[in-house]
Amino acid sequence: MTMKDRYVAHGFMVVGLLLAAVPLSGTAEGVPLSPPPTKDRVPAAHSDKAKALHAPFGDTRTAAAEIVAAGKTLYEGKGACFLCHGVSGKGDGPASHMQAAHPPRNFTDCAFQKERDDGELFWIIKYGSPGTGMQALIPNILSEGEGWKVVAYLRTFCKG
Ligand code: HEC
Repeated sequence: MTMKDRYVAHGFMVVGLLLAAVPLSGTAEGVPLSPPPTKDRVPAAHSDKAKALHAPFGDTRTAAAEIVAAGKTLYEGKGACFLCHGVSGKGDGPASHMQAAHPPRNFTDCAFQKERDDGELFWIIKYGSPGTGMQALIPNILSEGEGWKVVAYLRTFCKG
């Protein structure tokens, strides 16, 4: 695949993500609330394996500044996370209104950040959250290494 082919393929993936989100459409007033962070999103059968996953650079909460910066670039660029989760991380991106049934997670919620292990966040990015607009994004859009950098960036949304 040439670089150009890759960008074209990526363009189709992003359109696909948006189309996948359409069946979940509904009318939400303002920013919908995420389900309680205490509710596991990784299916129980995969929970132990997910929790055992760790970033190659260690704890994502103490990642180096350049890793966090790379994660931000992916979140707001190639990964297109902002479309649903918002540049703000609050789950208020331009496509969030299409997902009233399963709102995108508000990453600024520190209770949520505390509740989730690194591996649980990574698992959802890799395999998606079944029955919601959250698609499996690794390896289709991000590599595993890129996925971990995005997790390090997600951690910075909690300012508490
Ligand atoms: C098409 C919309 C959409 C896009 C694009 C999207 N997400 Fe999501 N995401 C969601 C929705 C909806 C949920 C909530 C799913 C649920 O409730 O189980 C979610 C959930 C998550 C979760 C799980 C949160 C939890 O409760 O444990 C993580 C982590 C996540 N997204 C990360 C990302 C990252 C990183 C990207 C970009 C690489 C991304 N998402 C792109 C819609 C999206």
